[in-house]
Amino acid sequence: MIELVADRPGEPLEMIRLREARDIALAPNDALLRLVASPINPSDLLPVAGAYPHRTRFPHVPGHEGVWRVESAAAGVSGLKIGQRVVACAGPGAWATRRRADANRCVAVPDDIDDESAAMAVVNPLTVRCLMEHIGPMAGKAVAISAASSAIGRMLVRHVVSRGGHPLCITRETNCDPDVGGIACWRDPSSIPVVDVALDCVGGTAGEQLLSKVVPGGVFVHFGLLSGQPIRTRPPQGVSFRLFHLRSALENQSGHHLSRLMSPVWDDLRTGLSRSFAAACFALTEWRSALTVVGQPGRRGKILLTG
Ligand SMILES: NC(=O)c1ccc[n+]([C@@H]2O[C@H](COP(=O)([O-])OP(=O)(O)OC[C@H]3O[C@@H](n4cnc5c(N)ncnc54)[C@H](OP(=O)(O)O)[C@@H]3O)[C@@H](O)[C@H]2O)c1
Repeated sequence: MIELVADRPGEPLEMIRLREARDIALAPNDALLRLVASPINPSDLLPVAGAYPHRTRFPHVPGHEGVWRVESAAAGVSGLKIGQRVVACAGPGAWATRRRADANRCVAVPDDIDDESAAMAVVNPLTVRCLMEHIGPMAGKAVAISAASSAIGRMLVRHVVSRGGHPLCITRETNCDPDVGGIACWRDPSSIPVVDVALDCVGGTAGEQLLSKVVPGGVFVHFGLLSGQPIRTRPPQGVSFRLFHLRSALENQSGHHLSRLMSPVWDDLRTGLSRSFAAACFALTEWRSALTVVGQPGRRGKILLTG
């Protein structure tokens, strides 16, 4: 068994190494999972870089989501079958050929969902569902979406359109390609018209400019930090500023509740609303090439690590 590990915080390409892992001891209610595939998400690399010192313990095995097969389970675990495919909301540790997970945090993958979609089913698609609920009805509303060419940005554009909203896409590239035809795109958030809702995962100056575009009574949801910089300005009068973290939203959720939350997500994958695709797959042993590709601007699609 092998795993990727960072012994201390720093630049991921310098800090991560491959190591032989020790045998895994299962606690009561644990399942032993064998990795099929796990994507490299921005939120996997930030803890390695030292962004969350209060909640990242080193040595740290990165990776939060993926699709696994159940290899074995502790006595008393019910509801999981050996060989079954699952996704798991079990915290970091995905970039290993095997991991343990609380069986209550595992959700069975429906047979008609392919491995690639299942590997990317939780972090972005579930966040999109939560954000849509958070915002409420959006028919007729102007909704600005930053980093609209990111995997989650593309999903948000499709969901906003499907709910009758009007997305305004902001990308850092000149040739905007958010997947949905006829959508207006901007590079400079300060030049967009005013909006009812802004969904921002960039932060920094671009996030602050976007915040200034939300009308009184409108909503600004800040859910990511691609720029690496926080938003420091105050929201305009009457604008509701909200933070969203999937991790907090899933904390303390029972297995039953997780399955219920995932149910509409499987449908969103079937209809394509929350579909993202893999640009390339690399074995865990090829992690260096994988991380190099992830850092390239203009990348389309996720990079998957396979077991
Ligand atoms: N709060 C939560 O619970 C939650 C959940 C899911 C996702 N997120 C956040 O959503 C963001 C996007 O995640 P993802 O999985 O969709 O990412 P991704 O597609 O894997 O990669 C991010 C993409 O955004 C663009 N980008 C990178 N840096 C940027 C910058 N400074 N300004 C504007 N665009 C930039 C790049 O595309 P181009 O090269 O084409 O510009 C890059 O390919 C991340 O910040 C992530 O942490 C948060």
